[in-house]
Amino acid sequence: MSSENAVSRKPASALVRTDYRARYEALLHDNLPETFKSFAPFFANMRRLETMAGMLRRHVKGTGKMVLNAGCGPFASEIFVGALQQQKIESFDYTLEFARFFEIFRNEGLLEDVSFSTANAMVVSYPEKRFHLIVMHDLLYEVALDLDTVLSRYVPYLAPDGLVYFDFMNARLRPLWRVLGKEKRYRRYDPQDVRAILERHGLAIVEWQALRSGATGPTAAFHLLLRMFGTANAFAVLARLNAGAAR
Ligand SMILES: C[S@@+](CC[C@H](N)C(=O)[O-])C[C@H]1O[C@@H](n2cnc3c(N)ncnc32)[C@H](O)[C@@H]1O
Repeated sequence: MSSENAVSRKPASALVRTDYRARYEALLHDNLPETFKSFAPFFANMRRLETMAGMLRRHVKGTGKMVLNAGCGPFASEIFVGALQQQKIESFDYTLEFARFFEIFRNEGLLEDVSFSTANAMVVSYPEKRFHLIVMHDLLYEVALDLDTVLSRYVPYLAPDGLVYFDFMNARLRPLWRVLGKEKRYRRYDPQDVRAILERHGLAIVEWQALRSGATGPTAAFHLLLRMFGTANAFAVLARLNAGAAR
């Protein structure tokens, strides 16, 4: 790894290498097709990784663990999330425009312990009990991906006591976004349904919290207001496979 990309840990942050953020964004901008360029600042926004990074820092101890990153996009989690450093990560995504960044970041001396394939989450398969951690960050808003179906596919890939991270959008806020004219075509879930789905799959909640969005300014203030009312637009969940649960 070149020294300029060496892992620099900021105290009190679960993110690493944040001094690489500007170059990361520039590489995205320069190598994405015109219609995708607006994604560069989105993926380079470190705030959107913070909730997951904090959860993983608290619960993923040690290195060399097998990790699956489903719908990895242009590798922001692999590069910036502290707890994912020095793990053995298998990443996939079906968007071809992001695939080329695997080579680009490898050429930067990054993604050393990462393998990548272009694959669809509903088709790809792995050996049973392979992964200590499965990450689905900012993925389950996709209309084509249903949490219950996704967990049916992926829970068998979890090692005993394995962890799964995912986040989801709160269905209870759909009417509010509709009134505000902001609702898009996202899949949303009622939090109570998510708890029931987790239980059905033998997954015990380790942490459940409001997901910090990448928003700034008035939008961020609005998200804060939602939290003051005890709710959130999206939640992050870390759950552990109950050892001995029916599979
Ligand atoms: C908002 S991006 C998040 C990327 C990454 N997880 C992150 O947080 O930086 C969602 C990603 O999920 C991918 N995706 C959505 N549905 C997928 C599917 N069925 N199979 C594989 N990838 C999928 C998209 O291509 C996109 O890269």
